[in-house]
Amino acid sequence: MSAVLLIDKNKVRRSFASAVDSYDELATLQRKVGLQLMRQFFLQNGCEQVVDIGCGTGFLTQQLIDQASVSQVVALDIAWSMVQRTRVKLEASDSVYYICADAERIPLKKQSADMIVSNLALQWCQNLTAVFDGFKKTLKPAGGLLFSTFGPATLQELRLAWAKADDYDHVNGFYSTDDLQEFLVQAGFKNIMMETKIYQSSYQSVVELMRELKGIGAHNMLAGRNRRVTSKSNMQTMISAYEKDRVNGGISATYEIIFVTARAE
Ligand SMILES: C[S@@+](CC[C@H](N)C(=O)[O-])C[C@H]1O[C@@H](n2cnc3c(N)ncnc32)[C@H](O)[C@@H]1O
Repeated sequence: MSAVLLIDKNKVRRSFASAVDSYDELATLQRKVGLQLMRQFFLQNGCEQVVDIGCGTGFLTQQLIDQASVSQVVALDIAWSMVQRTRVKLEASDSVYYICADAERIPLKKQSADMIVSNLALQWCQNLTAVFDGFKKTLKPAGGLLFSTFGPATLQELRLAWAKADDYDHVNGFYSTDDLQEFLVQAGFKNIMMETKIYQSSYQSVVELMRELKGIGAHNMLAGRNRRVTSKSNMQTMISAYEKDRVNGGISATYEIIFVTARAE
């Protein structure tokens, strides 16, 4: 398995909390991936009690409560303002429970959920053993898990460009399909299936890409990141290295998305 990712949990909470007003305008990829995840959800049977982990501003939560089979959704997020935004958007729908909690310690009853769903949130969790153990306990024996997360090729262009400028980790690391498989097997999940898709997004400039990452709350959350302000000259070196690969007037960023389904038993 790759090295364990050391994520600064407080930074995760703060970054997403401060992105609550800009998130919806910028989260085009997250919505695209969320809709793809819902296509997989349609293939699952008998899901009444569903948990949405890392609900953000509630895009997936809304999709879930629109499903005829779903009678109750728990919308859970580590950032209080995200939970609040979902609550306001869904007009405190009485089929949704709102919880501000960490996915590594979900405060839900044992065997209470038919399905746990998560769209592009689990990459911000450090301890996936704790996450999947908790999910396994919360799921009913016939329950299922469905999530999307980023894979290691995500933002590879930005990572390479920074490597030309200094020796710090500026881009979060992401677990591979092999790592995820191992975590899920350890937690006792069965019928694990994974599919990887590459999405390419275009930006007019590196600055536009970095503004988007900041605006959706996706800062560098690595505990070992450079905490000093990056110098102007290092930033310029990184930007020049990235922009050497301009195509049709823009720069491209890779997002590797891993879609996972698994059964509790
Ligand atoms: C990129 S957003 C995705 C939001 C939503 N699922 C969507 O599809 O738009 C990631 C969300 O995960 C939440 N998050 C990150 N780490 C978490 C953790 N350990 N426990 C619960 N939520 C977490 C963040 O606060 C953020 O709202």
